[in-house]
Amino acid sequence: MRRGTRGVCFSAARSVFFFLFTPRAGGTSVSGPDSGDRAVDVALKLAEELFGFGSSGATPGWVRDRVRRYLEHQSYKSGFTMNEVARELIKDKAAVERIVTSLRVGETRFYRDGAQWEAIERHLEKLFPADVELQVLSAGCSTGEEAYTMGMLLTAARRRFRVLGVDRSAEAIAVAREATYGREAARDIPPAWVERFCDEQNGRLRVGLLVRNAVEFEEYDLVKRVPQGPFHLILFKNVLLYLTPQAGEQVATRLANELEDGGVLFSAASEVLRLRSMGLETVRLTPSVTAFRPAKRRP
Ligand SMILES: C[S@@+](CC[C@H](N)C(=O)[O-])C[C@H]1O[C@@H](n2cnc3c(N)ncnc32)[C@H](O)[C@@H]1O
Repeated sequence: MRRGTRGVCFSAARSVFFFLFTPRAGGTSVSGPDSGDRAVDVALKLAEELFGFGSSGATPGWVRDRVRRYLEHQSYKSGFTMNEVARELIKDKAAVERIVTSLRVGETRFYRDGAQWEAIERHLEKLFPADVELQVLSAGCSTGEEAYTMGMLLTAARRRFRVLGVDRSAEAIAVAREATYGREAARDIPPAWVERFCDEQNGRLRVGLLVRNAVEFEEYDLVKRVPQGPFHLILFKNVLLYLTPQAGEQVATRLANELEDGGVLFSAASEVLRLRSMGLETVRLTPSVTAFRPAKRRP
């Protein structure tokens, strides 16, 4: 990070200034011992002020860990303490944006949660007659691997379909549209699909046109609006951890309401209990794979 190279957002800077120099009950001040906690608080406060990141609810531990790692790295590189690095962020909106972007773009991979993909493949015809053109949404698609996995599965199953992938991160959407990944991305994809649906380009893997032509991507903040359905399949996986409990419930319910009659929504296995507690109806595809539908309306 370079010192003081960017413009200051004055209202954010003023409020963070007071935050910085108001001692916390029993806590460290920014000029006190460099435990890192205060520096992480400062970076998160700026992320909230400037980019509305995590503005309500408790910050999940993994977010704090990632911010701490960023500050430690910058501290190591620059020779400044972590608190000094955090203080410099006030003048460097672009650096705060980089932190926010790295927090928003989550990890993903092709054919993540194999058991779920197998269950979708096995139940496809039972769920949706063969002549139906399937509309699919990957909500919180990150860099596109989930949407393309669905595209490969449906092409292999000889279905007509469209997949829409949406994410709040413009950077992630740009990568998704490019559809080019490192060779190791093929690791979990069934080899027959790699052979049929991917091309090798300069030592990298590009999803081929056959699949790419049926998959598109758009920038969307799901907290503000969800894409209009009806969708037969919605993948809403590993996004809840980015949202406050209230926002997460709102987004999940809105998405479920965009399902076609008989359509199903999938979460990550670790999120099943959460969605169930929101009152969504469960559809057990296999002992380990559960999907969701909107709660039945009472007569
Ligand atoms: C961990 S990734 C999940 C990717 C993929 N669904 C999977 O399970 O592999 C979470 C993604 O959710 C996106 N995200 C977080 N909050 C969002 C929001 N409000 N609207 C749209 N996308 C959001 C992040 O940008 C990130 O790319």
